[in-house]
Amino acid sequence: MGGIYLHIPYCRQACHYCNFHFSTTLKSLPELVQALTQELALRQSYLQEPVATIYLGGGTPSLLADKQLALLLAKIRALFAVDAEAEITLEVNPEDVSAERAAMWRRLGFNRISLGVQSFDDRVLPLLNRAHSGRQAIEAVHLLAAAGFDNISIDLIYGIPGQTTRQWQRNLEQALALPIQHLSCYALTIEERTAWGHWQRQGRLKAVSEATYEAEYRLMCDILGQAGFEHYEVSNFARPGYRSRHNQAYWHGAPYLGAGPGAHSYNGSSRQANIANNAIYIRQLSRGLVPATTEHLNKAQQYYEYLLTGLRTDRGIDLHLIRDKFGLDTEDKHGSFLKHCIEQGLAKRENDKFVLTEGGWLLADSIIVELMDDNL
Ligand SMILES: C[S@@+](CC[C@H](N)C(=O)[O-])C[C@H]1O[C@@H](n2cnc3c(N)ncnc32)[C@H](O)[C@@H]1O
Ligand code: SF4
Repeated sequence: MGGIYLHIPYCRQACHYCNFHFSTTLKSLPELVQALTQELALRQSYLQEPVATIYLGGGTPSLLADKQLALLLAKIRALFAVDAEAEITLEVNPEDVSAERAAMWRRLGFNRISLGVQSFDDRVLPLLNRAHSGRQAIEAVHLLAAAGFDNISIDLIYGIPGQTTRQWQRNLEQALALPIQHLSCYALTIEERTAWGHWQRQGRLKAVSEATYEAEYRLMCDILGQAGFEHYEVSNFARPGYRSRHNQAYWHGAPYLGAGPGAHSYNGSSRQANIANNAIYIRQLSRGLVPATTEHLNKAQQYYEYLLTGLRTDRGIDLHLIRDKFGLDTEDKHGSFLKHCIEQGLAKRENDKFVLTEGGWLLADSIIVELMDDNL
């Protein structure tokens, strides 16, 4: 099963923390939609398998007019074998939601919404430079549910300087009071090329301490776990039956085609990265060229990918598979480290599988480094 991702690289305003590829000048948006349809046509043969998931992300895909969304979905359906039951997600910003638009998104065929909330707190939202209030975010979820969306995810961020742990707790409680089935909760990264990165360098902004990150992470695990959400990836929680099929396919190494500036694709052995520049992307596509670089993954890189995706999900890594596919005997090489992780409560063993616990996910990066092997 394959997936298709379309990147819509525009936002109304730049959030202070965000390093995704986007432009706040919307002038070229119509040309970009055209270029996206051209890229899809040029890369029709990239995916041989039926398409089980489609994801429009950004940037802000809810900036697109209904006609543009309809065009993109029609193009995908015309060019690829889209499953009748495909999961089709639209990433939405709260300020774009109205009863009419929500109803239209449903009619167009979207069956899952990912809503970027970040915080419900009106003291925190301006610090982030968000374009909506807490109330607007709450109303957006209700409007989406009333329009018939029964698979709604929201994004929240913790570890925000200026947001107390008590405020974080209230955000989680507020989220649980809403008709949502999925939550993505990200630990804030202060990225260099953002307003916050700049302020941090000037000494005007200080990241929260490791202890605060950890306290907020553990609080989130407790509150969401008690509410019946499954913690299936370090940053993702779902009610039973509502895990994101699109993201799971990424993490399980399924092939996907990513179209649009800055989008990545993967076909099992190589990764392709489109240029993250809207003007060049549009110009090249108008000449029938896809501006992208391709990286063939050697065995060590494939193994690293496997560790990275496996150890950050509740699927874990399969030591038998590692032996078969990469010729590595993990028990032989790292037996005492695996045992140490299990004794410390950071991991568990399920037959051939080694799976990190919620506590282990906090240290996932260093555990991965320990298991890496450059000599493959
Ligand atoms: C690509 S963004 C698109 C979301 C949508 N445009 C919105 O803002 O409503 C996806 C998510 O990444 C998360 N994110 C972006 N920058 C982040 C950062 N520096 N640290 C942690 N999470 C971040 C936010 O939760 C955001 O909703
Ligand atoms: S968080 Fe969303 S709206 Fe804000 S800049 Fe990033 S992509 Fe745009």
